[in-house]
Amino acid sequence: MHKLIIHGGKKLNGTINISGAKNSAVALIPGAILCDESITLTNVPNISDVDSLEEMLLFLNAKIDRRKNGEILISSENIENKRIDENLVKKLRASYYFMGALLGKYKHVEMCFPGGCTIGARPIDIHLKGFKKLGATIKEDGDNFIIDAKELKGTKIYLDFASVGATINLMYAAVKAEGETIIENAAKEPEIVNVATYLNNMGAKITGAGTKTIKIKGVKYLHSCFHEVIPDRIETGTYEIIAAAIGEKITIKNIIPEHVEALNEKLTEMGVDITIKEDKVVIKESKNLNSVSIKTEVYPGFPTDLQQVLASLMVIAEGTSTIQETIYENRFLNLYELMKMGAKIKISGDTATITGPTKLKGTEVNATDLRAGAGLVIAALIANGKTVINNADYILRGYENIVEKLKSIGADIELV
Ligand code: EPZ
Repeated sequence: MHKLIIHGGKKLNGTINISGAKNSAVALIPGAILCDESITLTNVPNISDVDSLEEMLLFLNAKIDRRKNGEILISSENIENKRIDENLVKKLRASYYFMGALLGKYKHVEMCFPGGCTIGARPIDIHLKGFKKLGATIKEDGDNFIIDAKELKGTKIYLDFASVGATINLMYAAVKAEGETIIENAAKEPEIVNVATYLNNMGAKITGAGTKTIKIKGVKYLHSCFHEVIPDRIETGTYEIIAAAIGEKITIKNIIPEHVEALNEKLTEMGVDITIKEDKVVIKESKNLNSVSIKTEVYPGFPTDLQQVLASLMVIAEGTSTIQETIYENRFLNLYELMKMGAKIKISGDTATITGPTKLKGTEVNATDLRAGAGLVIAALIANGKTVINNADYILRGYENIVEKLKSIGADIELV
């Protein structure tokens, strides 16, 4: 595992270009299986989760051409629908998109339970319930699933929770089913819209993506398409928080501002000097930040993925801030690492309180998951002295060129 070594306390200046969204790319890549021809994706971030999915597609004998400019061409005309090596599947949660894609195309898939961060149990019961509603039978033996369907028939599916993964996986399973499928209580995240547009670009008939009701009219054939990955709203939010914490003047480009509206509201409430433009934000040095309270919600509420990052900014705000995490049951592990750096934090149940301002001290800390790691990067950039972040590979899973991007605005950071 790599480590990040950061010497903090240096003001940062310059421009950050946001990459394609991890949580979109990791859905679009397996979705290529559904196409009856080849597809080209552009603005694909160069992150290890994409490498892992590429390995899984190659395991199935798909043909892949990964170009330097963030383009990837995938043709899955001759793939073999076999059980993917579980060492590959266990590398990330998004492996489960192969379930929906292989089921949707071949009416059969055999796979083990996916991987994923330590932020909660992360069951896939909502996915499986939806597959059954479409006509699939599921045999579970231990960690392994065998999912079969004589035919997939469109039907009405109500999601018990507006799950991002389940919404996308059920779109994949339904896109070539007989008749119309209606997904009620669907997730509304921008990544859902990005996936629906992708499938429609192939000739699918999907309406309502981005609302709580998505309609999918099954089609027989999906033709080739050229599709762009949307900008990463969580990477955007991460760099906005870095700028608010230790920037003098930082411009963050290639963004879709409304995708980070919930965060921008909170940063404004904290007194951050933020100017929002068409496809960028400019954040200037902001002194005496106010404390703030957040409660994570499904989109368009405050994103759970950014609460671990904003926690580090709350440490230097005046007063007591609170975080209520409603999506995951174990997403406060990063706070124990912040306490090692001197942060004053109390955790009780689903709520954490952070009292500031506190001067953080550099020390050795451990990234426990991807966004926890991102939060520690911010804490290290703020802290006096040297911080070593262990398990930095978590961070490389979701942030393209994070060391180069931070060095380009003056951070003293290196990966070892
Ligand atoms: C996606 O995970 C993201 N990952 C997560 O980002 C993000 O935190 C999450 O959406 C919520 O926004 C990817 O897109 C690869 P969910 P996903 O299904 O699809 C429960 C990151 O840092 N649930 O909306 O797994 C689940 O346990 C990652 O980039 C069930 O109970 O999220 C969780 O408590 C972390 N049964 C809640 O719903 C199910 O069948 C949210 O899960 C499915 C989910």
